[in-house]
Amino acid sequence: MRDHKGAPFSPTLLFTSSISNIICSVIFGKTFEYSDSKFQKLLATINRAFELTGAGGPLVFLPLAQKLTCLPSYRELQRCIGDILDFVREEIEAHRSTLDVDDPRDLIDHYLIAEQHRNLDEKQNDISSHINADNMVITIFEIFIGGTETTANSLRWAVLYLMEYPEVQTKIQQEIDRVVGRNRFPRLADRPNMPFIEATIMELQRIMPVSPLPLARYTSSDTEIQGYSIPKDTIVLANLMSVCKDESLWEKPDVFDPGRFIKDGKMFQPDDFLIFGAGRRVCLGEGLARMELFISLSNLLHQFTFKKPEETTILSFKATEALTRAPLFEYETRVILRD
Ligand code: HEM
Repeated sequence: MRDHKGAPFSPTLLFTSSISNIICSVIFGKTFEYSDSKFQKLLATINRAFELTGAGGPLVFLPLAQKLTCLPSYRELQRCIGDILDFVREEIEAHRSTLDVDDPRDLIDHYLIAEQHRNLDEKQNDISSHINADNMVITIFEIFIGGTETTANSLRWAVLYLMEYPEVQTKIQQEIDRVVGRNRFPRLADRPNMPFIEATIMELQRIMPVSPLPLARYTSSDTEIQGYSIPKDTIVLANLMSVCKDESLWEKPDVFDPGRFIKDGKMFQPDDFLIFGAGRRVCLGEGLARMELFISLSNLLHQFTFKKPEETTILSFKATEALTRAPLFEYETRVILRD
């Protein structure tokens, strides 16, 4: 960002690469150079896969959608998923051949070790388990794509809103300067002392939820919710967007106001803040995502002020309607170095 020397640039690739590298270090035990063409192709494929889920909106969750295999977008989506799965399989095989059970490097190694224990247990006690080679591929795949697109999109929205609301940006920078100062970088330990940036991150997620219609779930038995009976095996989708914009929960829900998450000078999280889903299968990456957003934004705003390019008069807040929501139009930003 510094290298652009104040000239406009799109931050998308930088955010996707840096956020993806965090999850890559957790699952693959390594990071990739931003100039690595194989890595960039993979990120573009993940991005395209998410875009393609938007083609049918919520209809993609219906059983009927699985019969529409002749549609070109469906076939392209299958190709994208196949390419990402191939990458994950290659990584797993490379790990299998270099595994040191006494020195696990990452999630794949831990899974391989769990698989070995499972094999032993099965022989001794005939225990059946979900730990197996097929589930390993899907688990790593889900964490890889789930940990890349959502958080990177959150940062893209963050910069857009910070350009539109410079007073919020200034207030965050004042908080950073007060708590951290100019002689070191912000770190996670500073989080409890920085309620305003935390509140801003929550407000960004509320006003523009990146995953407003989370994953489809099945009811495992007949049930009743608020007088509605829902039979076993019904597909259920929680509409998180309706919670985020509900006037009975939030005052003026369309107004961007981080102050709504501050009470008596402290950040507080209301029960109605359902950005990471609801129930037992709530997002498993929530803790990591919150850390990533705090560390990224606090460090960026420690170093830079984001400004609209001079020729941009109006910023667009239109979003893609896919499994995750990204800015519909690619935008550019400028960074001004802080002293
Ligand atoms: C701002 C960032 C993120 C948002 C807004 C977000 C949101 C969500 C939501 C709404 C769900 C569906 C939960 C439900 O069905 O109730 C979900 C599931 C999931 N997320 Fe995230 N997520 C984020 C970051 C991450 C990260 C960093 C990871 C990886 C570590 C991750 C991995 C997953 C996985 C694997 C699932 C599927 C869980 C399951 O099926 O049980 N997410 N996420």
